[in-house]
Amino acid sequence: MDMKRTSRELKRKMDTMSVSFGRPTRTVITKINRTKTTTSSSSRSIRITPKTIRPFASMVKAIRVHELGGPEVLKWEEVEIGEPKEGEIRVKNKAIGINFIDVYYRKGVYQSPLPFIPGREAVGVVTAVGPGLTGRKVGDVVAYAGNPMGSYAEEQILPASVAVSVPPSIDPSVAASIMLKGMTAHSLLRRCFKVERGHTVLVHAAAGGVGSILCQWANALGATVIGTVSNEAKAAQAAEDGCHHVIIYTQEDFVTRIDKITSGKGVNVVYDSVGKDTFQGSLLCLSPRGYMVSFGQSSGLPDPVPLSAIAAKSLFLTRPSLFQYTTTRDELLEAAGEVFANVASGILRVRVNHTYPLSEAAQAHADLENRKTSGSVLLVPDAN
Ligand SMILES: NC(=O)c1ccc[n+]([C@@H]2O[C@H](COP(=O)([O-])OP(=O)(O)OC[C@H]3O[C@@H](n4cnc5c(N)ncnc54)[C@H](OP(=O)(O)O)[C@@H]3O)[C@@H](O)[C@H]2O)c1
Repeated sequence: MDMKRTSRELKRKMDTMSVSFGRPTRTVITKINRTKTTTSSSSRSIRITPKTIRPFASMVKAIRVHELGGPEVLKWEEVEIGEPKEGEIRVKNKAIGINFIDVYYRKGVYQSPLPFIPGREAVGVVTAVGPGLTGRKVGDVVAYAGNPMGSYAEEQILPASVAVSVPPSIDPSVAASIMLKGMTAHSLLRRCFKVERGHTVLVHAAAGGVGSILCQWANALGATVIGTVSNEAKAAQAAEDGCHHVIIYTQEDFVTRIDKITSGKGVNVVYDSVGKDTFQGSLLCLSPRGYMVSFGQSSGLPDPVPLSAIAAKSLFLTRPSLFQYTTTRDELLEAAGEVFANVASGILRVRVNHTYPLSEAAQAHADLENRKTSGSVLLVPDAN
């Protein structure tokens, strides 16, 4: 399959939006026929068929945070979301992706004014478009990942510019499980440090949401992939996802093992999302002129890094955020297009390993934080 062509075609199909001015669209699809099929361990299928049309419901159910803290601060409430304004769409969410960044906001590691509705990833059906917007219509199935925050809701208002069409071949639950994580992997492997055949890469938390995608993609690019995980079950998953070597870093010293695997040469790049517990060891695993890509801190913020720590091996150190890699519409379509193309062609298998009702987001957060999850974690609105 010509990956570049498929990606370009998907990008063209996703970019159907243009703006002109006119009257607001006042109809809304509120009832959705959904066929649930628990097909395999790796995905769940949701079929969407527009059924009835009725006026806006003014209130919807959502998870809201009024004070920072543990999972218990995630409250299930009624909220008013209003109607889409110019350039906006209203979307009835079918599946909502959970990401570790939602935990950071809930705890206050990253800040947002209170109260807020968490969540930065969802797939849903457009139920209304704001005044003058063309190129988007009621009934479109769209995905978004990133800004704005607020996807833990039955419905939400989005700028139309952040939404991309979901290719019909991709199940909405799969799309909601990979949009943010897949685009993150895209930015890390294809732009931040370009992984090529012959490279050796280290991926921490290799069985996690982003980790699973990173390992599969790095393997497909021809790299030797080393993954770290906390237990045997996650090790088995990481091996299935293309890790040539899996290290259970809760049982053995990953630095020593990587030294053996690479015969002392070190790895070309470390993708480190664990932070505090792994950061120093990751630096030790790198070859001279290697890339330390610190993109998360699930175990806590790493200690400050003196320049001398990277000078000894002339290392490159970067702290990338997906949001800076998808700032323009073109960048967004490029990244989403490549991710969806890789899903469609089977290069990336999406593991939807955990699904919770939206009202039980607190349980989902507790499981994610306690390292009980692997692959992607989804919330599904209770009424679906
Ligand atoms: N920079 C960006 O743009 C960007 C975008 C997306 C995600 N991220 C980062 O990528 C990371 C992965 O996100 P994700 O949503 O896919 O989560 P995830 O990897 O599914 O879950 C986090 C994993 O981190 C590992 N971990 C190690 N020490 C931990 C600790 N003390 N507490 C909790 N987990 C610990 C666990 O795997 P083991 O049990 O195998 O150790 C856990 O399953 C996060 O750090 C997130 O912030 C960054």
